Amino acid sequence: MTGHNDELSQSAAAPRETRVVRNAKGRREKVEVPSTGHEWDGIREYDNPLPRWWLWVFFATVVWAVGYVIAYPAIPMLTKATQGILGTTPRKEVAADIARFNEANAPIQAKLVATPLDDIAKNPDLVNYANNAGGAIFRTWCAQCHGSGAAGAPGYANLLDNDWLWGGTIDEIYTTVLHGIRDPHDPDTRYSEMPRFGIDELLTKREIDQAVNYVLEISGQPHDAALAKAGETVFADNCASCHGADGQGDRAQGAPNLTDAVWLYGSDKATITRIVTNGPFGVMPSWQSRLSDADIRAVAAYVHGLGGGE
Ligand code: HEC
Ligand code: HEC
Repeated sequence: MTGHNDELSQSAAAPRETRVVRNAKGRREKVEVPSTGHEWDGIREYDNPLPRWWLWVFFATVVWAVGYVIAYPAIPMLTKATQGILGTTPRKEVAADIARFNEANAPIQAKLVATPLDDIAKNPDLVNYANNAGGAIFRTWCAQCHGSGAAGAPGYANLLDNDWLWGGTIDEIYTTVLHGIRDPHDPDTRYSEMPRFGIDELLTKREIDQAVNYVLEISGQPHDAALAKAGETVFADNCASCHGADGQGDRAQGAPNLTDAVWLYGSDKATITRIVTNGPFGVMPSWQSRLSDADIRAVAAYVHGLGGGE
């Protein structure tokens, strides 16, 4: 950088820029472009006028801005912004859209609330509404835990299969969604608690190993036969009260069937040992304080219709 040179050094330098203009008579003529006198490292700044199209666009944006300031809320004042003569804002427009949709949906929502849950499937309009609205509710409020396809994840129930912890009729699904599972904020929540057999020293490590091998046996997986034999007694004494004498589960307590291939947490020995040692405590939020009755019915019908509904 040689910096900002003075007029002298710049006038001594090489050729000057010219451009073509129309003179007063309309003829084209070549004129010398005046220099601003600025030069940086040999690059000179000439005093060319701005292109005309650019100037017009610039003026147009100024006019547009003035019109916008008059029409819409724009200038922040002490308590609120100037309101604009149109009297509307994008926020008001969205609120009006929402009100319009709510009004349009009000009749079908009223019908959904008035229809016994079991009869929803008989009414094509309600089924159609439940699939659309219920699907949207599911993707907004349920998908983060159950997955957008409702296939679940370890600890988060799969809602596509016909294996249910708490029941797969539309009434049972509705109750689950309404009150949640082990949600401390809802006095009517579905509740049960599997003991923490290891942490609370209800069983020894060896007894847990025996019970786990028995669970592996009844679910048709590789196991140690001698340990499983001893585990049968441990199971009868400690597990059968919830999971059933044959291990097929009990929906009244949300206790999973341990004999099938569907697992909430996992089928491998390490996972089963961890669950029996630490105790599971799956929590699903209650929705009655967040969703309207029509929304809960819609999403329950949607889940019921996914394939595993009973
Ligand atoms: C914060 C995570 C979370 C969210 C959000 C959530 N769930 Fe759940 N849900 C769970 C968990 C965890 C379980 C399994 C609870 C257990 O272990 O008993 C469950 C279980 C269920 C069950 C019972 C399944 C069965 O086999 O009986 C249904 C039905 C259900 N959820 C539907 C929904 C719907 C519908 C929504 C959205 C309105 C939703 N869930 C939102 C975590 C969630
Ligand atoms: C008081 C009832 C109760 C007792 C007793 C009980 N369980 Fe459970 N068990 C449950 C419930 C409820 C769940 C699901 C809980 C959850 O998701 O939070 C469960 C889950 C499990 C799971 C996870 C299943 C899966 O699909 O991933 C295993 C394994 C299990 N129990 C084994 C046992 C064994 C072995 C015993 C006895 C040593 C036992 N349970 C005793 C209620 C019980």
